[in-house]
Amino acid sequence: MLSVDPPVEASGRSEPLSRLRAMQIGIIGLGYVGLPLAVAFSEAGCEVVGLDVDAAKVEALNAGRSYIEDVPDEVLAPLAEKLRATADYADLTACDAVILCVPTPLSDSREPDLTYLIDSATALAQVLRSGQLVVLESTTYPGTTRDRLLPILETSGLTAGSDFHLAFSPERIDPGRTDFTVRTTPKLVGGLSEASAERARELYSEICDTVVVLSSPEVAELSKLLENIFRSVNIALVNELAQLCDRLEIDVWEVIEAASTKPFGFMRFDPGPGMGGHCLPVDPFYLAFKARQHDFYPEFIELAGKVNQAQPSFCVERIERALNTVRKPVNGSGVLILGVSYKGGVGDTRESPALKIIGRLQDLGAEVAYHDSFVPELPGHGLASVGLEEGLRDADLAVIVTAHPDVDYAEVVGKAPLVLDLRGVTREIDAENLIRL
Ligand SMILES: NC(=O)c1ccc[n+]([C@@H]2O[C@H](COP(=O)([O-])OP(=O)(O)OC[C@H]3O[C@@H](n4cnc5c(N)ncnc54)[C@H](O)[C@@H]3O)[C@@H](O)[C@H]2O)c1
Repeated sequence: MLSVDPPVEASGRSEPLSRLRAMQIGIIGLGYVGLPLAVAFSEAGCEVVGLDVDAAKVEALNAGRSYIEDVPDEVLAPLAEKLRATADYADLTACDAVILCVPTPLSDSREPDLTYLIDSATALAQVLRSGQLVVLESTTYPGTTRDRLLPILETSGLTAGSDFHLAFSPERIDPGRTDFTVRTTPKLVGGLSEASAERARELYSEICDTVVVLSSPEVAELSKLLENIFRSVNIALVNELAQLCDRLEIDVWEVIEAASTKPFGFMRFDPGPGMGGHCLPVDPFYLAFKARQHDFYPEFIELAGKVNQAQPSFCVERIERALNTVRKPVNGSGVLILGVSYKGGVGDTRESPALKIIGRLQDLGAEVAYHDSFVPELPGHGLASVGLEEGLRDADLAVIVTAHPDVDYAEVVGKAPLVLDLRGVTREIDAENLIRL
């Protein structure tokens, strides 16, 4: 239920902030989510203070250097006057709104790790001032904004609803995607009160064409988890289908393409080496954790996680079988991994299935090399990206694990002695030395 309370007016204003002067926005956490958001607000004319505990990021941004592929340096250059980075929470006091974009990973025991959220909220509470709007964008389980964030912010001595506003608005960014932007992707907001929701709607209207106001932060929190669980479950479904098709000797890609001709009631998902990134392998377990607290055991989430986690092992088995067709053991064979980030067009290796595949191949004694122009080094595996020509020359097998746009896969098939395609990017190519998932 929403509580209805009068809107808090910062500095006694009666008109939307944007009509009187440029809004001042604070963004805590300048990573894959926070930096593009900071850019979007700056481009819309707002004054943005970006805060990060990582001094290297603060220094880079203030020198006009980006570290996120989706934000080229040329985008930062004209924003130098509008976008300032800092590590000092006191710099947030002048802001009308402060948005939290800190990581929400899993702990070693695969439970929600809210350390970053708690640390940043605790620091924010020290400088929170009357009239501010605080929005949490980090993905998390329903109840986090109300039960975890609110009490920390109220240690400031201020009261939510009467002194400051609080809302949750999930980030829907998909790094590397260009067809939908911050502006054209509808933004969900759920406020702790109607007034909080209205302030959040006003805030995001600066940068988004469509803002959808929901009845509570919990609905907004759970909507984001539904979106990610939907993807996780459907990816697991096609990954399992790929394993079955392998047994049945049916081409899974042809099956998926056939099903995709149905104009309604079917949404295409592609199989692959497993699921990676900071979101899909992590977020569903936030909901599973919350469900367990209510004696509820969500089976789809756990099952999808199990299938997707097992997919890299299945791919290693396919690598062993591919080498077997040319009478080679994994031990001592040269295996070139093409693409090690978790998806094409980005350099993010978090939870990337390629890392599991490489680790297993190294354990089996393979001579592993990789080529990925987005990821220069993998220190954890003692590897650095090799040139494509050189890598193909030395490999017994090239494995397409992540398909980047800058690689010519016809050239790969033409030059490698043997190719295993785990992404279906060679479907137009017919060659004796080519095997597909
Ligand atoms: N990456 C995505 O595609 C994506 C998409 C949607 C939602 N999300 C969610 O958004 C949130 C942020 O993800 P991300 O990918 O941007 O993470 P990230 O690791 O790229 O960036 C987070 C930033 O927060 C900083 N940080 C950590 N603790 C801090 C503190 N106490 N004070 C200030 N800064 C601090 C880190 O130094 C880092 O720069 C997560 O909850 C994630 O699940 C991510």
